[in-house]
Amino acid sequence: MSIAVVILAAGKGTRMESDLPKALHKIAHAPLLTHAMRAASSLSAEKTVVVVGHKADVVAQAAKEINPEVLIARQDTQLGTAHAVAQACPSLDGFEGDILVLYADTPFISQQTLANIQNARLDADLVVLGFEARDPGNYGRLVTDGSQLKRIVEFKDASEQERQIILCNSGVMAASAHDLFSMIEHIGNENISKEFYLTDCVELARQAGKTASVVKCDAAETLGVNSRADLAIAEAAFQNHARSSSIADGVTLLAPDTVFFSFDTVIGRGAVIEQNVVFGPGATIESGAHIRAFSHIEGAHVARGATVGPYARLRPGAEISENVRIGNFVEVKNAQIAQGAKINHLSYVGNAEIGQETNIGAGSVTCNYDGVMKHKTKIGSRVFIGSNTMMVAPLKIGDDAITASGSVITRDVPAKALAVGRADQVNKIGLAGKLINLLKKRKQRKDLDL
Ligand code: UD1
Ligand code: CA
Repeated sequence: MSIAVVILAAGKGTRMESDLPKALHKIAHAPLLTHAMRAASSLSAEKTVVVVGHKADVVAQAAKEINPEVLIARQDTQLGTAHAVAQACPSLDGFEGDILVLYADTPFISQQTLANIQNARLDADLVVLGFEARDPGNYGRLVTDGSQLKRIVEFKDASEQERQIILCNSGVMAASAHDLFSMIEHIGNENISKEFYLTDCVELARQAGKTASVVKCDAAETLGVNSRADLAIAEAAFQNHARSSSIADGVTLLAPDTVFFSFDTVIGRGAVIEQNVVFGPGATIESGAHIRAFSHIEGAHVARGATVGPYARLRPGAEISENVRIGNFVEVKNAQIAQGAKINHLSYVGNAEIGQETNIGAGSVTCNYDGVMKHKTKIGSRVFIGSNTMMVAPLKIGDDAITASGSVITRDVPAKALAVGRADQVNKIGLAGKLINLLKKRKQRKDLDL
């Protein structure tokens, strides 16, 4: 059965108290919309339509950045979830498969649950994803009759008795395109909010002699984000889930509660992550790598056997090969560090290539930025960069070369050369004591003046 996904993201998200549209608020460094679209991508949908409305251009652009293939439908005024789905109809003209409706503000629906919904569609015309909540709050309630779903009642419109129901609506719904769009045509807005509720589909389906059923999932998957408080709860839930699944995958986390993941962090089996490590987007840590405490890693790849930190910062484009050592207070950006190289202390390496077994001494800097443009530093294999070497790019340093510590290197260094770029030292015998005496006298005179 071919499937199309419709993701509703037109709402303003008034309860977020924010100028940013709700769908673009982030969990684990990715917009809510990204999370919804990632879940949907597991279905190999024929088409994905994102319905945008509030700040439509900004949300549409974000959606296209996440997946250039998505179709955009506009809902100019937000008249309710059924009205939002209706706006996707022209984009799905001629489509005859199933439609799955997701909400952009419900980011954690699992692939397994989506597969369960697809299976349930074999036995029912309309399938709604529900969950049992200990504290059902303002969620819509599912009114059932045995295994059949009778109707969904919004909290605002529910009677006291209906509010006692703990089986809630997640918002996810599946039906054939034909059934869904023909039911939506008949939905009215005679309710407290004066909105066209998608949830009214259920009652209409039943009246038309169709069957409706509920697929249940864990409440953790259906967490809806409506406020900043919900966003904080969702972030914590994401992090806890990411920690326990990486532990289950064989990663050692020395203090799990202090490690923060991004939506796309990948860590191989047997890697060790020490305390207080933060992963920004695009981090890949291979099996057997060791990330030491207080490191910050984003857009970077760390190969097996490499050690990073404590207190290291890897920025986008940092490529750390096997058995490399990146030590404390070292920042690496857009640089390839080849096998066995060492950058152990207090250095900045950016826009650079560092060859195998090269050692970068403490306090060394690739001076890559001239105030206008970035330039590259290319360092060969087995090079020894003396401590506090400033490498003014563009620059090439050949294999097996050495730079004297304290050098400012402005010209290329041939292979095997020793480059010394600093003033010669002069020792003035006995001058130290004289200098101190002179300074003391000056101070005395100054104090008397006061
Ligand atoms: C909705 C459900 C409720 C369910 C809850 C689960 C309806 C009527 N209610 O309530 O039963 O328990 O989700 O989280 O469906 N949207 C549009 N256009 C609109 C209105 C909403 O695109 O005109 C989008 C929003 O951006 C959001 C989603 O639809 O992504 C849900 O809207 P929201 O207003 O958050 O609905 P809830 O009150 O949470
Ligand atoms: Ca909501």
